Amino acid sequence: MKPKVLCTHRIPKEGIILLEKNFEIEVLDKNLSIDDQLKEKLPETKYLIPLLSIQITKHHMELATNLKGIVNYAVGYNNIDIEAAKEFGIKVTNTPDVLTNATADLVWALILAVTRRIIEGDSICRRNAFSGWFPEYMLGYEVTGKTLGIIGAGRIGSAVGKRGIGFDMKIIYHSRTRKPELEEKFGFIHYPSLKNLLKDVDILSLNVPYTEETHHLISKNELEVMKSSSYLINTTRGKVINETDLIEALETGLIAGAGLDVFYDEPFISERMRKLKNIVMTPHLGSATTNARNAMAVMVANNIIAIEAGNRPPNLIPELNKKK
Ligand code: NAP
Ligand code: GLV
Ligand code: GLV
Repeated sequence: MKPKVLCTHRIPKEGIILLEKNFEIEVLDKNLSIDDQLKEKLPETKYLIPLLSIQITKHHMELATNLKGIVNYAVGYNNIDIEAAKEFGIKVTNTPDVLTNATADLVWALILAVTRRIIEGDSICRRNAFSGWFPEYMLGYEVTGKTLGIIGAGRIGSAVGKRGIGFDMKIIYHSRTRKPELEEKFGFIHYPSLKNLLKDVDILSLNVPYTEETHHLISKNELEVMKSSSYLINTTRGKVINETDLIEALETGLIAGAGLDVFYDEPFISERMRKLKNIVMTPHLGSATTNARNAMAVMVANNIIAIEAGNRPPNLIPELNKKK
């Protein structure tokens, strides 16, 4: 019998074709409860491919007595109980690098969309309400020469910063580990203090993973030290920000605006958030390019193939990659 690969949702065929010869692949029915189906099918599953929106808990792993790998179709893996995976000896992999450019580009799409009022402008054109060019009509904020702050200068954060160099921006960063290469080669400036960085930024991009440490990393206290002319961009995970505090900051003009690709309880977006005029939102589109999504599917397949062959999967998450 071929080993079973269970996909919680359909993934691009580029990955499936690498697996279908040697594995039995099943995709859950999107019209039925995912959790009920998981509970039913996990006992016979050897490899699980979840989306980032599906929480994989210790309870799931207890049921999955044959599970060898949780092969996340995402770079972020905060949806998986890593301690439980360790306990059960289940390998966990993610999809780094192949989505870095797509996500950094989306950060920039949000930066320019919110500062230059692109969505508002598009809406004026579509409503046939463009009544002529005037010197003080729909003025925006110019990013060139300003200060771009990155929190979490990893793969995506550093790619966001490098794009900022093209806009002659000063790039400042705060991260868990100092990055001498980014400082020497690209002129990034390290800020050991998050508060000091927040005081200096004009545009802030959040690029940390969502962990216990980064839960509500940005709350009222942090928003209060930012300039009232500054913009916040979040493409990481919604819960890195205290969303109620952010909404209040945007309503009261504590900061000028925000670009948001992720939300606290997504796909739910609160009415209060939806009413804000000074934000641009996208429905978690960071890695949503054909290139990135196909490459993620190939990566997922290659991780499964490696585990099945008894090899170390190429994208084992760092927590499981540490030498004992
Ligand atoms: P990464 O390379 O691991 O970068 C994360 C960076 O954050 C690392 O430099 C890490 O420091 C730093 N960091 C971790 N905890 C921190 C803390 N408590 N305080 C300060 N810095 C901290 O990951 P990535 O590939 O850039 O992805 C980052 C995140 O983006 C993912 O986890 C995911 O949530 C999100 N994402 C979203 C989308 C989307 O569609 N919107 C797409 C892709 C990714 P070290 O250098 O010490 O490890
Ligand atoms: C997307 O959010 C990812 O983590 O890949
Ligand atoms: C604007 O279109 C200009 O020519 O300045």
